[in-house]
Amino acid sequence: MELGVKTMEWRDGRLYILDQRLLPTDIQFIECTDYKMVFEAIRTLAVRGAPAIGVAAAYGMVLSAGEALSAKGGDFHRKLEEAGDYLASSRPTAVNLFWAIDRMKRLADVRKGSKPEELYDLLLCEAQKIEEEDVAMCRTIGEWGQSLLPEECVLLTHCNAGSLATAGYGTALGVIYSAVSAGKKVRVFVDETRPLMQGSRLTAWELMQSEVHTTIICDNMAGHVLREKGVDAVIVGADRIAKNGDVANKVGTYGLAVLADYHQVPFYVAAPTSTIDFSIVRGEDIPIEERDSSEITEGMGKRTAPFACEVYNPAFDVTPARLVSAIITERGIHRPPYEKSLREGEGG
Ligand code: MRU
Repeated sequence: MELGVKTMEWRDGRLYILDQRLLPTDIQFIECTDYKMVFEAIRTLAVRGAPAIGVAAAYGMVLSAGEALSAKGGDFHRKLEEAGDYLASSRPTAVNLFWAIDRMKRLADVRKGSKPEELYDLLLCEAQKIEEEDVAMCRTIGEWGQSLLPEECVLLTHCNAGSLATAGYGTALGVIYSAVSAGKKVRVFVDETRPLMQGSRLTAWELMQSEVHTTIICDNMAGHVLREKGVDAVIVGADRIAKNGDVANKVGTYGLAVLADYHQVPFYVAAPTSTIDFSIVRGEDIPIEERDSSEITEGMGKRTAPFACEVYNPAFDVTPARLVSAIITERGIHRPPYEKSLREGEGG
């Protein structure tokens, strides 16, 4: 299956990030020359989606290493450490961000004795490896996931867990791409995903580029669609999965899981193992990002709520493990009880 525009690209010592805030109407790249620009791109959602922000942060660490090289009398490792902490403060929920930064910091630690120039090259190789591994993991997730789907299927997805949310291919949408590549006839209903419309702006856009039959619905239509449209499965991505299989994903996912349960439609979560946080026992312990009220009150570029009205804007919610039919990772199809199957990496 042909992939669309690349989410990001490392070229000539710079990171070019596709500005997803401008999609679907404009394709523009932000040229990041320092790690603070990468932080800003993550914070403002120019790049978003759990695996993609992990990859962007890894390259952010490479940029910081480059900056540390030219800092006169500067302590290379201290600067790298500072950059890691700074990048990690960009968004709190997706664990892939911390996972990637830790991996880069660990490498720098292990190779502490190396010359800074040598370490820069090693860090660049590691970031490229993280990026390549992500694409490979998504393709494997896609293969496992598509094996769960019938030859002709109607699917429902929420937010964007596609090539835009990863280094390429996608998790939930990776499953869809693999199903289509396997010759299955797939129709996808896409929740528009309020307040920032990742579903209609990003998912519908990338599915249509790959010529997948796509229908956008407003989030509040999901119950009706589940009852009326013969949906075979709901499939979503994840920002962080707790040890017990509770899943944090874009706000609205929990409601969708409750609806799927009521309608006895399988609810699948597709994510790489880098999204599993074994240090978090239950979903309640996952930090949930709260974003600015303006995303709700004037997110469409027009005031849609009274001035000074109180607003609550959590960017994610937690779906309890008992509502999740299976978690698909690159290791296979994990079924409940998740505490055991996620740890053991059971497949099949
Ligand atoms: O706020 P966002 O757009 O970063 O939220 C993204 C999601 O919730 C995705 O579903 C999740 O990161 C999985 S991406 C493969």
